[in-house]
Amino acid sequence: MAKNKFYCTAPIYYVNAAPHLGTLYTTVIADVAARWNALRGKEVFFLTGTDEHGQKIAEKAAQLGKNPREFVDSMIPPFKAAWELYGIEYSKFIRTTDAEHEKAVVELIETLIASDDVYKSSYQGFYCVPDETFVVGDVDSVKDGQMPLCPSCQRPVQIVEEENYFFRLSAYTDKLLEFYAKNPNFIQPKEKFNEVIEFVKSGLKDLSISRKTVSWGIPFPGDPAHTVYVWGDALTNYISAVGFGSGNASGDASFAKWWPADVHIMGKDIVRFHAVYWPAFLMAANLPLPKKLLVHSYILVGDTKMSKSRGNVLDPVVLADTYGAEAIRYFLMRYTSFAQDASVSLEQMTTVINADLSNSFGNLVNRVLVLAQANGLDVVPGLPVLEEDGVVLRERALECIMSVCDEMGHYNYHLALGAVWKFVNEMNAYLHTQQPWKVVKEDKQRFAAIISMVCHGLKVAATLLWPVMPEKMLKVATALGCEVKCEVGKDLTESLRKMTWNKTFTLQQLSAPLFPRIEPIVAPAPDAAATQEPVKKEAVVEQKSTEITIDDVVKVEILIGTILEVEPLAGSDKLLKLKVDFGDRGVRQILSGVAQYTTCDALRGIQAAFVCNLPERKMRGEISQGMILGADDGKSFAPLSVDKKMPNGSRVR
Ligand code: MSP
Repeated sequence: MAKNKFYCTAPIYYVNAAPHLGTLYTTVIADVAARWNALRGKEVFFLTGTDEHGQKIAEKAAQLGKNPREFVDSMIPPFKAAWELYGIEYSKFIRTTDAEHEKAVVELIETLIASDDVYKSSYQGFYCVPDETFVVGDVDSVKDGQMPLCPSCQRPVQIVEEENYFFRLSAYTDKLLEFYAKNPNFIQPKEKFNEVIEFVKSGLKDLSISRKTVSWGIPFPGDPAHTVYVWGDALTNYISAVGFGSGNASGDASFAKWWPADVHIMGKDIVRFHAVYWPAFLMAANLPLPKKLLVHSYILVGDTKMSKSRGNVLDPVVLADTYGAEAIRYFLMRYTSFAQDASVSLEQMTTVINADLSNSFGNLVNRVLVLAQANGLDVVPGLPVLEEDGVVLRERALECIMSVCDEMGHYNYHLALGAVWKFVNEMNAYLHTQQPWKVVKEDKQRFAAIISMVCHGLKVAATLLWPVMPEKMLKVATALGCEVKCEVGKDLTESLRKMTWNKTFTLQQLSAPLFPRIEPIVAPAPDAAATQEPVKKEAVVEQKSTEITIDDVVKVEILIGTILEVEPLAGSDKLLKLKVDFGDRGVRQILSGVAQYTTCDALRGIQAAFVCNLPERKMRGEISQGMILGADDGKSFAPLSVDKKMPNGSRVR
């Protein structure tokens, strides 16, 4: 049973600022881990939440003229809304102000006191408020009030002097080193593990675990003049969330079931707390240690860490609106490696999303669906025997499944996604060589066989991509007439591996492009990015005269396409919504202001000419990816067409 459960945690976030792309990053990594394990048939518990105590939060509340409780409550909706927007499917959202959590913290500290690991002593030293941590250094060396900078965030520290409760961290030096030696995969990546080992080897000092000057916190057991050090409070969330300290049987059973966590996921700035303090607390309380710490690097803007205090954050809500939340999830998981900082830009996101998602994957799905439908193949029958090319494609699919399982198992998400895209490209190449649009004219059965192979391949890809883009992949599955449904005890990757490629697919067209193309955008000034929508780059056309040159003419890409569907656009009496098949160039949605001059029936099924290299536009919330050409006399509209049927996607010259 133990093997069949998976408990993963994201950090709990400080509520002094709304989530940004950097904090979203950690959360998406954890969500993908949770979903991947659910896909593999495990029962999953995925924890995230908010870290609400401490001086930093109290100061922020005071600045806003609120009491801390009022302030922290007001910050929860933006977190929950952002996580919902991004499909973060947590099992529990914990708040460190939850009564059960506070009770568990008291229980843990009491256990540490009982095991004689806590003593009272006076302390004078440097403290970094933004990081809520003590900084090593000699306070007597301060000259003219010039405070040293925190080595982690590079901001000036403060001197604190107070009587505190201390945890005997120094007594755990050898035990920690022994634990690290016995668990060589405890921290990933290795370099981070080595840094931790070096730090511990250099000798640990006892750790102050109470504050007398910070009133916004959990009262220290037995001495309410003190509050519990915010990291002691925060780290305990990982056990309080699953029942530690509940004092009731169901809490105890839940704790026994879920703890220890399979993985704590976090950014590199908070490794020491998780790799040194947390294991030492757990050792002192005689509790099992987490199995793994997955440490990722930073999302940078230029060469600076993205953070609210630096004013260079990208707002996940704005990004989701511009690019689509799942496209952002894909971008983050594919184009960052956890071991290295990743500098992101809006231009890079646009390029990647258009190339990988709109073109390679989205068009592949559209092409297959449209080709099948246009040729009356709504139900793609299973094949009794695979032809040679089918066997090869199935082999490629099996290779893809194996490498995705391998890479995901090692948290190499970017490599796993690379393996899926290799297979997507193989499917595109397969269509390109098999040319089903030609084959259909002579051999309907062979046509069906080619479509069938790609449907099987798409089922594989959609299942493997579900952890990263769950909503979109469910759309693909529905379009193929199948599903991605996680069940405890059923490993869907195993089902894919064992799948016989003779399934019947009942196809359904997509109601909108899977990944609409994104217009190129100009990055807003860093600070403005937090509050403003990215600025759309307008095509600047300088019109000097009415004459144009041949170069201007060839710039206009006019393609022939078949209008598959037409319907009035809801809420508009001028616009019609067309679905147009451009063959190899995919199916596009085009909005056209001709409703007053023609009817849906007059347009449905005809071939016409369209301008296809205009930037995408949004009208009444719908995307338009081109423009129909034709003439109108004020009463009627005549679409421009060619006088013999041409392959869809042919260019007009
Ligand atoms: N409250 C503590 C965590 C306590 S866990 C018991 C905390 N909160 S935080 O809001 O400052 O950061 C939460 C997470 O977001 C950390 O893993 C941090 O590394 C991550 N990130 C914040 N900015 C980031 C980037 N620019 N890039 C990548 N991750 C970033 O620390």
